Amino acid sequence: MQDDRELVTGQKKERSDRGSTDGGQVKSSDRRKFLMRVGWGSLAGFLAINSAAFLRFFYPRVLFEPPSQFKVGLPADYPIGTVSSQYQREYRTWIIRLQDGAFFAMETKCTHLGCTPSWMESQKKFKCPCHGSGYYITGLNFEGPAPRPMDRFKISLAEDGQLLVDKTIKFPGIPGKESNEVYPQSLLRV
Ligand code: FES
Repeated sequence: MQDDRELVTGQKKERSDRGSTDGGQVKSSDRRKFLMRVGWGSLAGFLAINSAAFLRFFYPRVLFEPPSQFKVGLPADYPIGTVSSQYQREYRTWIIRLQDGAFFAMETKCTHLGCTPSWMESQKKFKCPCHGSGYYITGLNFEGPAPRPMDRFKISLAEDGQLLVDKTIKFPGIPGKESNEVYPQSLLRV
């Protein structure tokens, strides 16, 4: 009887030992699989990053800037005595039509430190939000720290009848001078 009990106990122990050995093998196999996955994952990531860097090398490092010559529509699109901000964002240019019907194109840049003034229709002036410079519709500065009038660009009539702005030809504002008088060629009469 005693022997039988010892035999049963021995068998149970053996089974339990085998079980724990199998469990150990399973655990070690899972760990190996996990480590392999991590290894392959890291390798794939490394290769992907290097491939992207390699391909990027073949793309030209070009700064995409808007063209310096651009059309801004027909003269009839602009009512007399108005400032159009339609091209302010893309080309940093206002298209202005004076009371006498003449057009000019002006750079949207304060001559103090380069901020972008806003056209205040009710006050009929440009006002710079940075330090308070003020300009008349012609670009002539009259208040605040701006040292000179705002700059103009060449504007002409294209063959198709549209207004054409050329930013490569600039008329820089001269301190204390009215650009309409200094640069009559900056005005377009159609
Ligand atoms: S940048 Fe316009 S007032 Fe200073």
